[in-house]
Amino acid sequence: MTPKQLFLSHQAQTTHFPLMMEMDKAEGNYLYDKAGKAYLDLISGISVSHLGHGNQHVKEAIKAQVDKHMHLMVYGEFVQNPQVMLCAELAKLLPENLNCTYLVNSGAEATDGALKLAKRVTGRAQILACKNAYHGSTHGALSVMGDEFFKNSFRPLLPDVKILELNNTKYLGLKRENIDLLKETSSLKLKKIIKKNDIILFIAAIAPAKNSHDLIKNLIILKNVCNNIDYKKIRKIIYISSDAVYSDTKKKISEKSETIPTSIHGTMHLVRENYLRNIYNKKLCIVRPTLIYGSNDPHNSYGPNSFIRKYLNNEKC
Ligand SMILES: Cc1ncc(COP(=O)(O)O)c(C=O)c1O
Repeated sequence: MTPKQLFLSHQAQTTHFPLMMEMDKAEGNYLYDKAGKAYLDLISGISVSHLGHGNQHVKEAIKAQVDKHMHLMVYGEFVQNPQVMLCAELAKLLPENLNCTYLVNSGAEATDGALKLAKRVTGRAQILACKNAYHGSTHGALSVMGDEFFKNSFRPLLPDVKILELNNTKYLGLKRENIDLLKETSSLKLKKIIKKNDIILFIAAIAPAKNSHDLIKNLIILKNVCNNIDYKKIRKIIYISSDAVYSDTKKKISEKSETIPTSIHGTMHLVRENYLRNIYNKKLCIVRPTLIYGSNDPHNSYGPNSFIRKYLNNEKC
């Protein structure tokens, strides 16, 4: 039998329509079939061979390791140099609290590991997944796959998985032409527009607030919004604040950092946050983004925008 016939007879296939290219070798960006035809590899073995096929450094490292030893034991028992070095290297690159790596052999195992970790850390079991998502073929990965066709034969899978459809949220965007929040008449309009269980994304502001006039205008906007968004009526209110609520520092900032604004703009956002917190309490979600538009952007003048500062000082970002 030919290799193709053997493949079809004896090797399980991933789909009913495998690509069936009969491969000979691979070099750099190219794959070559048995007839010598070259194919430009645009997917690197689905994100595995990033350094190019036949990379000399990779080949030498593999050969040297094979000469020493190959598989000895499951991960996490023996101290084996390549594994330890990899984990240490990852710890160096990742944020400080991500300092320990769970090694696995495949993407699906990584997905399962991530699901388990999330359940263990949060104590919660519900999992959100996306329609059309692919995460691998183990039971855990299949459970969060967003295509019923592939899952059907393997039920029961993990319980309490909810599938989300991307971009299917109905939303109504309101601009100043539609509703001018500086005018008192906006109040009634807003009241009529907002329906029960709506989620409000509050982003309107005169920004950056450079002086006391801007500050007052932003508080008027706040008042007109809050006057008309009834706590009981809405599901959530998401307030887009700013990282300017933190002090302008070169130190690392996290959500737990103290909010000590060094600008009117930051003060404005902090006042708004606190006002909203008083009214909407558990229904309020605050997002404090860092904005980077470019070196001439006024946002660079405040907040812990370390990237742009480093860039301007010719430091490594
Ligand atoms: C996005 C994504 N997740 C998970 C996997 C599963 O990886 P593995 O086949 O190594 O289990 C794949 C594999 O194609 C993938 O593309």
